[in-house]
Amino acid sequence: MNINRRTFLKTAAGAAIGATLPHFLSDQVFGKTRQPVREFHFSASKATVNLGEGPDFIAWTYNGQVPGPEIRVKEGEIIRVVLKNDLPEGTTIHWHGIPLQNIMDGVPAITQPAVKPGETFTYEFEARPAGSFLYHSHAGYQLDQGLYGSLIIEPLNEKTSYDREYTLVLEDWVMKDGGGTARTQRRPMQGMMHGRMPRRRSFGPSEGPLWEPFYDGYAVNGRVNSAIAPVVVRDGEKIKLRLINASSATTYFLRLAGHALTITHSDGTPIRPVDTDVVRIGMGERYDVTFVADNPGSWLLGAYDSGFGEGGLQIPVIYKGVNRKEPDGPTFHRGLRMATYFDFEALQPTETPIDRADRYYNQSLSGGMHSSYWTINGQVYPDSDPLIVRQGEWVRLRYGNHSMMSHPMHLHGHFFKVVNPSLPPERWILKDTVILDHMQRIEVEFFADNPGRWFHHCHNLYHMEAGMANVVVYEGDSQQI
Ligand code: C2O
Ligand code: CU
Repeated sequence: MNINRRTFLKTAAGAAIGATLPHFLSDQVFGKTRQPVREFHFSASKATVNLGEGPDFIAWTYNGQVPGPEIRVKEGEIIRVVLKNDLPEGTTIHWHGIPLQNIMDGVPAITQPAVKPGETFTYEFEARPAGSFLYHSHAGYQLDQGLYGSLIIEPLNEKTSYDREYTLVLEDWVMKDGGGTARTQRRPMQGMMHGRMPRRRSFGPSEGPLWEPFYDGYAVNGRVNSAIAPVVVRDGEKIKLRLINASSATTYFLRLAGHALTITHSDGTPIRPVDTDVVRIGMGERYDVTFVADNPGSWLLGAYDSGFGEGGLQIPVIYKGVNRKEPDGPTFHRGLRMATYFDFEALQPTETPIDRADRYYNQSLSGGMHSSYWTINGQVYPDSDPLIVRQGEWVRLRYGNHSMMSHPMHLHGHFFKVVNPSLPPERWILKDTVILDHMQRIEVEFFADNPGRWFHHCHNLYHMEAGMANVVVYEGDSQQI
């Protein structure tokens, strides 16, 4: 055999690595041992918190703080989180947006039994892909009580340049014991504040799902109102903001006074940069945005307040060395540009779905008007039909929202492509959460490459708990939790 030098070197290197292992194992094992493990210890427990303004109250926390500790790792590292449950009820952690192994997905009764009080559970998965994510409890209303935090996976090769970055976790709070909402307390939903009729419940106070609470604190990284920590910039810098909406029931419309924002990533994935006046971010969504600090002064990144106190918050953006004066806030007037999903285009072309999906599911979103339940195809989870898929299929979900409210629909374990008829399929953006407005239709398509049982639901926590959910099940899966 005639071996040239290059081939010989390759062969020699390969032999050295794989000497004692069969070829098909060596890659995997060799790869694993090289990946650094980043270990975190989380205790889920009640703790007294203060959001910088307002009363002390008891929230449900990871390590006594809200939000929980930020997990920040490099792409390809192994994240290991040892969760100790010091709460009075079962809990789990879900790694929102990360297509990990099904048993690590953290959904009680679907991927694991809830971790019981006093018990410990270890989550372990590879940090992939790079991007801005979040983690949160997936048990009951615990997300709204404070059990969430940010998860940042830094890319091995940073493709976007910036000088400074900030992570901004947006959270809606009821600043009293129990955080979000207490089991014993039910209130009419916020819809009535928009002039709609309050709905009547047809059952007793101890049954049925909870209404959305009236929030009285919109926090950024656990601080409300004037306690919100400023974004400090220097003249000439390019700033990256990781916007993460960990709220249970609030969508924000954000605008930065004095500067244009450029969206660079949607749900962690890079997109062709889009300039926008307003960024809309729904529950469970993430946007990375950049701006150039070229207008020295004291400004506010403000969220539109409908006038009912909903979702209004203001983050100071302060230039270093500029004398503090009253910051200028953004105005929300007619004619502002708000980029939508259909203005986004994938930065790197991704695998192309064939022009016909292998399987289609209609997902009609409804409920809320005359009932306490929110439905998909008229069904209330857990009495909803599973979405059966087969490994290797492209699966198209055709959403239609027939209700009065918006629904951020979220699929676990997969990114989906948002179908955009004006772009070729390889340019469709990848997301894991997509908002359906009143009467809107959106189709998404995912590749069934991650076997298991995956929750699929509205990320308004109160809609999810009121039935707007089903489960994607891979054919042949007979797992019992
Ligand atoms: Cu943030 Cu079921 O998800
Ligand atoms: Cu919803």
